[in-house]
Amino acid sequence: MSQELLTQRSAFANLQALANQKKKLVDLFSEDSRRAQKMTVSAGSMTLDFSKQRVTGEVLEALEKLALEAKLPSRIKALFAGEKVNISEDRAALHTALRAPADKRPEGLDAVDEQLERMAVLVEKVQSGVWRGFSGKRITDVVNLGVGGSDLGPLMVTQALREFTQPEARSLKVHFASTIDGSQLFDLLDHLNPETTLFCIASKSFTTIDTLSNADTVRSWLGSYCPDSELLHRCHFIGMSASREKMTAWGLPEANQLYFWDWVGGRFSLWATIGLPIALSLGMSVFRELLAGAHELDEHFRSAAPLENLPMMMALLGVWNVNFLDIRAHAILPYDGRLKYFPSYLEQLEMESNGKSVTSDGQPLDYATCPVLWGEIGANAQHAFYQLLHQGTQAVASDFIIAASRYDNACEFAHYEQLVAQHELNIANCLAQSRVLALGNAAVEPTDNPFRHYPGNQPSSTLILERLDARSLGALIATYEHKVYAQACLWGINPFDQWGVELGKQVAQQLQPLLNGSSSERTPTKPVGAHPNPVGAHPNP
Ligand code: F6P
Repeated sequence: MSQELLTQRSAFANLQALANQKKKLVDLFSEDSRRAQKMTVSAGSMTLDFSKQRVTGEVLEALEKLALEAKLPSRIKALFAGEKVNISEDRAALHTALRAPADKRPEGLDAVDEQLERMAVLVEKVQSGVWRGFSGKRITDVVNLGVGGSDLGPLMVTQALREFTQPEARSLKVHFASTIDGSQLFDLLDHLNPETTLFCIASKSFTTIDTLSNADTVRSWLGSYCPDSELLHRCHFIGMSASREKMTAWGLPEANQLYFWDWVGGRFSLWATIGLPIALSLGMSVFRELLAGAHELDEHFRSAAPLENLPMMMALLGVWNVNFLDIRAHAILPYDGRLKYFPSYLEQLEMESNGKSVTSDGQPLDYATCPVLWGEIGANAQHAFYQLLHQGTQAVASDFIIAASRYDNACEFAHYEQLVAQHELNIANCLAQSRVLALGNAAVEPTDNPFRHYPGNQPSSTLILERLDARSLGALIATYEHKVYAQACLWGINPFDQWGVELGKQVAQQLQPLLNGSSSERTPTKPVGAHPNPVGAHPNP
């Protein structure tokens, strides 16, 4: 049986009729003074306030029908059970198994614990100083070389949870280099010490040219300080990949290889050994807390009914906005400086997963799928692109994200009260913006001045975390992962492949020799950031 299209579902016509009523947020709020209290859904310590979405009780009922018609509960079961939900690549998508205790995951996955343990051992060696560089000095800096899913998740999490860094991790500085042009690496190599820097080569496929070209540059940089390549591979590189053969072929000894599986999608891989920089930079216990938080959310997603299910509700609201209200842009607005990289992380998660125009069995779609998604720290975006949200011509749906409590671990800080006041200011801004987006001038008073006219009616949800910590961040990330899966089921597409990024890679491969040919006369340059005192070899203990 071929994949059913969204437009073939019987709830579709009903939802279209409801959308044609064109209800305005200002009227919805004045019709029901308790709307804000009623339109929330919670999972653990996280609450979604969706009262500023253009939905009514009737719309929610119809969306629930749509979810049941699309058999979301059994599709969720299939995901967790390890069925081959990634049809075009004929494999499972079992990222949830990476964060589940043994009794809660499909059988035969003991290797998950084994790799996590191997990761913990390596982390301990590096943090305790047992791991040494080629000259016998302890490691002070780690650079993660990876791109896409092998970069964005670890980068986002290490930035978000910095204040939870455990004592054993404090002496290590963790950096990230992803860009194929080498510019990030160039900056780093300029000041890093080759004797005390460890490089993590993070690549599921271990064929990604962006990452391998950075790794090759690093290897040649290190080689100019220590000619013993076997020693360099042993003391300065750890690989994380689903291909043991390719890691070995690159020169990584078996002991320096952390493995994961082809059933972990790249953009879902921070829970696997791709999470190594998180554990190195914050501590293994923080990484385990992150896994635990995601697992709690997994349990909620598997068991809660559609309208009490937070990720499913987000998915349904997204489909309502895109397919019925024709809103094709989605802004991610965390009101928290720690979530600086969360929007770019979600850009890959959502758009690489659901930017599709054929069903999972290859039929063309006659409706829209993933909206254009972008974002920025909300308070900064107020001074950048909010003008367009308030008075531009695009309809945009937004997610505001905020932690209710902040600085409760900073009471000792001399200026604690000022920081708390800043947090209150931040919350006030967050609430003000969603209110004005929803109600326009009606939030204050109407005006005849065209320049001061705010039309409102831009829908948004607000995700409120009690506080941001490893557990709640794990749950937040898992929420968006499941939202993506639920939306893919509603749209009838496969969120786990990414064929759309392959052609550009192929064409670049064809073009590169032409560029090489035109510059074959180049003379080799000095290695970047050459260290003044190359030293002799020292075996790793
Ligand atoms: O080009 C897209 C992509 O394949 C992503 O899906 C992936 O996260 C990224 O490249 C990096 O891939 P790898 O981990 O195999 O180097």
